[in-house]
Amino acid sequence: MSRIAYVNGAYVPLDTAYVHIEDRGYQFSDGVYEGITVAGGKLVDLEPHLDRLERSLRELQIDMPMGRRAMTLIFKETVRRNRIQNAFLYIQVTRGVAKRDHPFPADITPTLVVTARRLDLDSIKARAEVGIKVSSHPDIRWGRCDVKSIALLPNILAKQAAREAGGFEAVLYDADGYVTEGSSTNIWMVTAGGTLVTRSTDDNILPGITRATLLQIAESLQMKVETRAFTLEEAKSASEMFLTSSTSCAMPIVEFDGKVIGSGTPGTAAKRLAEAYWAYIDNSHP
Ligand code: PDD
Repeated sequence: MSRIAYVNGAYVPLDTAYVHIEDRGYQFSDGVYEGITVAGGKLVDLEPHLDRLERSLRELQIDMPMGRRAMTLIFKETVRRNRIQNAFLYIQVTRGVAKRDHPFPADITPTLVVTARRLDLDSIKARAEVGIKVSSHPDIRWGRCDVKSIALLPNILAKQAAREAGGFEAVLYDADGYVTEGSSTNIWMVTAGGTLVTRSTDDNILPGITRATLLQIAESLQMKVETRAFTLEEAKSASEMFLTSSTSCAMPIVEFDGKVIGSGTPGTAAKRLAEAYWAYIDNSHP
């Protein structure tokens, strides 16, 4: 069965799903996206993802293509038509199609594309049993990383460099040597005293939905948390590191730039958070 995509009002086979070559997303990266995990048919943290989508669009003065209820129906219908229970749901909204010219065109209709692809939750859990290697790369992105823009060149270049270095993720750092975030994840460390540390989202990083959920979970588990910046050196001598994202949950980091983190095996804080996160998905999504 072919995968099905939603494109501007129609559900079409993925192979024939197209947008116009003068779409401003294609020509200017003039658009935003969201990525939502679907687990057991449930859309995980749907409302915060819609909040972030609305905010990203507002910041770029792009209209929401439709109301949240209508959009939610499209998300669910896309999952249903693809007949998958565990999925990565990708939503992209661009400013729309117009003759190429930099200023915002008048009376333009946003382009909405929704796709769903199978997400292998078991392989994510299996990877978390072993942990991942990461490497550091300078953060050369713009000053509005809070907007989930489709302009991801610095992110993909860093991710590619990390993969070529034999790791899974790129940890980005700023001019002062502080970790900002991962190329597509948020980064956390755990101090020797057991405090979870992750950078504040006021600080030109993407406000990760998984990060926010895990902060609430950490609080409910009475784990100590600090939201502050930390340096590459502090991270490398931390007792644990892990990253978070919709598709990675809390993924333990066991090696950073060739330096073994903690005991070189997944740490207890990351494991505890991941377990609680999977339980949260099972229990708190109708
Ligand atoms: N990435 N930071 C960046 C730069 C990201 O692109 C993402 C998400 C995150 C984590 O956010 P969340 O917990 O809401 O998934 C942090 C998605 C998964 C992607 O680009 O595919």
